[in-house]
Amino acid sequence: MEKTIRVAVGSDHAGFPLKERVRQYLERKGFDVEDAGTNSTNSVDYPDFAEKVAGRVASGQVDFGVLMCGTGIGVALSANKVPGVRAATCNETISARFARSHNNANVLAMGGRLVDAATAEKILDTWFRTPFEGGRHERRVQKISSIEQRYHPEKKA
Ligand code: RB5
Repeated sequence: MEKTIRVAVGSDHAGFPLKERVRQYLERKGFDVEDAGTNSTNSVDYPDFAEKVAGRVASGQVDFGVLMCGTGIGVALSANKVPGVRAATCNETISARFARSHNNANVLAMGGRLVDAATAEKILDTWFRTPFEGGRHERRVQKISSIEQRYHPEKKA
C-alpha cells in the first residue's frame, strides 16, 4: 500500500480563497491535509502562516507544504528562512515540474491573485507526480544546504 502523502496548506487573506480550493482538491485526491489558516479574507501577515507551514515541513511532520499569498512571492521568501525548507513560487506548471525534478523543492507557493483554481489543480498535479531526479541535482541541492549551514551553524542539516 502506498504511503499517504501529508501536506500542510496555509495562506494569507489574499491567498485564502485559493487555499480553500487547494485544500478541498488535495483532500479529494486522498492527501492527508493540515490547514494552518488563515480562515477568512480579513487582512493578516503572510510570514506568520508561511512560518507555520514551513515549520511543519522542516520538522518532518508533513512531507510538503503549499502556501498562497497574493503572488506566491512573500510566502516563499518567508518559508525559505526556515532551515531545510526549499520553497518555490510556481504560478504555472513548468516551474512546478522543475522545482521538483531539479530543486527537490518541498514547499509550493502560488499566487491567489494570479492563479485560478483550475490552473492551481494542474500545478498541484504536476508537483505531486514529479520526483526529484537526483544525480547532478543532488550535489546542487546539497550546496543550498551548505549555504544554510554557513549562515546558521547552530542548526543541524
Ligand atoms: C497582500 O496584499 C500581499 O502583499 C501578499 O498577499 C503577498 O502577495 C506578498 O507577497
